[in-house]
Amino acid sequence: MRTRKDISQDTVVSHFTARAYKYDASSKWCTDDDMLKTIVQCLAPAPDASVLDIACGTGLISRQFHKQVKQLIGVDITDAMFHKAKPLTDGLVKASAEVLPFKEGSFDIALERQGIQFMEAEEAVKEMARVTKPRGKVCLIQLCAYGTEDQEEYFEILRLRNPARRNFFMREDLANLLTAAGCVDVKVMDFISDEDVDRWADNGAIEDERRQKIHDIYRKATPGFNQYHAVTIAADGRIVDKMLFGIAIGTIPA
Ligand SMILES: C[S@@+](CC[C@H](N)C(=O)[O-])C[C@H]1O[C@@H](n2cnc3c(N)ncnc32)[C@H](O)[C@@H]1O
Repeated sequence: MRTRKDISQDTVVSHFTARAYKYDASSKWCTDDDMLKTIVQCLAPAPDASVLDIACGTGLISRQFHKQVKQLIGVDITDAMFHKAKPLTDGLVKASAEVLPFKEGSFDIALERQGIQFMEAEEAVKEMARVTKPRGKVCLIQLCAYGTEDQEEYFEILRLRNPARRNFFMREDLANLLTAAGCVDVKVMDFISDEDVDRWADNGAIEDERRQKIHDIYRKATPGFNQYHAVTIAADGRIVDKMLFGIAIGTIPA
């Protein structure tokens, strides 16, 4: 895991306050049915399960579980994001994921999608594990670099796209975070999302200069980057990247 130490929580909240109005349309993956169905299938929640959605944002993950399980609780720190999630949950808690206001073993499943890159990741994942019941599941869903060949360019693209990002992951980082938090039976699956880079970079919270730099990196991408991202550039200049998500799931020991 690569970490930047200079990101404050105020920076994160300002970033998402600026983005909230167009967040749901800011990436294909946000609302991608295939991805959302894959997540639910992997976790296979029982109808009487209690589920915790960390960094719930506008509730795009919460809505997949709400009313399908006994209880779905969302946690986030940005009002502008989570007020949209209210009708999609059974309760919203404004709290830092690093210090969760729940007792040990309160939930059957704790999951996060694209949240821990803004956090003290080790602390947050330990908290997710702490509040999950024995035999319950903890799930991390994160954009990852494929390997050493693409990580420098990809991490720079991710940094430019989101100035509030603190952590940059490889798949093994997700597994290590879950293991360090006490999970067993840890598995990481791949999910590939074909993202239109212009749509993805136009998130409503970064300047043209950053978007231009992202374009430049894609246009000059090394063979090492391209062998994984299989970048295509259409005649009209639109760029599509096969972005990799790691879906990592661990089990709390009995
Ligand atoms: C990229 S959005 C992800 C939203 C949602 N999980 C999804 O998949 O659409 C990241 C969210 O993380 C929240 N967040 C960032 N740091 C946090 C923290 N320390 N504790 C709780 N939420 C946090 C932000 O406010 C934002 O809503």
